[in-house]
Amino acid sequence: MRRFNVMLKKVVDDSYDIDIGYCLEDRLINDLEEGLCYGYKRVAIICDSTVAPLYATPICRKLIDNGYDPKMFVFPEGERSKIRKTKELIEDDMLVSGFRKDCFVLAVGGGVVTDVSGFLAGTYGRGVPFINYATTLLAAADASVGGKTAVNTPLATNLIGMFNQPKKVYIDLDTWKTLPIRQISSGLAETVKHAMMADKEFFEYLENNVSGVFEFENSVCEHVAEKNCEIKYRVVMKDEKEASLREILNLGHTVGRALETVSDYTLLHGEAVAIGLVAECELSKSRGLMTDDEVNRVKSLLNKCGLETNIPGYIDRNLLVEKLYTDKKVRGGKLRFVLQDGIGKVKQFGDSWATFVNKSEIKRIIFNMK
Ligand SMILES: NC(=O)c1ccc[n+]([C@@H]2O[C@H](COP(=O)([O-])OP(=O)(O)OC[C@H]3O[C@@H](n4cnc5c(N)ncnc54)[C@H](O)[C@@H]3O)[C@@H](O)[C@H]2O)c1
Repeated sequence: MRRFNVMLKKVVDDSYDIDIGYCLEDRLINDLEEGLCYGYKRVAIICDSTVAPLYATPICRKLIDNGYDPKMFVFPEGERSKIRKTKELIEDDMLVSGFRKDCFVLAVGGGVVTDVSGFLAGTYGRGVPFINYATTLLAAADASVGGKTAVNTPLATNLIGMFNQPKKVYIDLDTWKTLPIRQISSGLAETVKHAMMADKEFFEYLENNVSGVFEFENSVCEHVAEKNCEIKYRVVMKDEKEASLREILNLGHTVGRALETVSDYTLLHGEAVAIGLVAECELSKSRGLMTDDEVNRVKSLLNKCGLETNIPGYIDRNLLVEKLYTDKKVRGGKLRFVLQDGIGKVKQFGDSWATFVNKSEIKRIIFNMK
């Protein structure tokens, strides 16, 4: 017998910058000129049908004016497009359009666009570079940062995907001005999540200032964007692949993601997460980790953000409980939850950040919620 040892120990530097500001298209061109994507000229701009005329087309024109060779790949807006088929259609279109390894992907849009594009870029030609140009508060707050990419399947959300870090993230606060109010609220759910899990002071700031986001007060929008990035990248830098600490970013998402699927995407991601946050606060309270007053503060902040905190009447609660078992934190067929430890902190359980919860326990919480 002969044996060859394939030595593949790697030192990887996937560091990247996140720029937060206004009208960042020129900055993007400048960075490309400075070699952000190895001087490649071929650009696959991926966006959805709403963002295409608003932001992707002007960026496409700017790229052409500066000597690049972009092509836009547009898919219908909304969560229902975050599926393998969308990725496949774009890939086939890119292949026949002659995109090879010397290209990069520019995702212009919200979390659906950045999730699909990052996943596609990771597998196209076994990997091409990609950039996120975030145009929603939710993408700014969460989806565009951290390198998690995925698509949904009929069973549940985000189960098929990969970790793939972008070359750079642009958070263009000017784009928030065209967002429907419902989308601003949805993005604020992830913002409240960040404050609840890591930063009591930021939670208090939101209690006092969140209306400024709806009024596009620059100082408030900037603070919200910066705090979200800071809290998220602090966690991601310690645990990029969700081996342990990164699980805390799942706060509210065990119930939230199940709700999103059971509602057949009638609920936006953030709307489902908001209700999930309340369910998980109630669970924390039942274990003596939160007081009544703290749970009420969370509910009241979510309401200030324009978010519902009750489970909609059309949701089948038994189905919701069953759907929880599609969560990626499930181990040995048992549910695991991230729990609050008051406001601004999550509870650590030994060396884990999620704890086992019985079906009967979470069922009681879900059936007792309004
Ligand atoms: N990868 C991660 O770490 C991560 C984290 C959180 C959420 N997510 C994912 O993000 C997705 C939700 O993100 P989202 O809410 O941004 O969804 P989205 O991309 O569907 O955008 C929401 C809506 O806003 C529209 N839109 C986007 N920018 C606009 C603008 N500037 N003006 C007007 N309309 C605009 C879109 O066309 C869409 O209709 C979910 O799929 C969720 O699973 C991923």
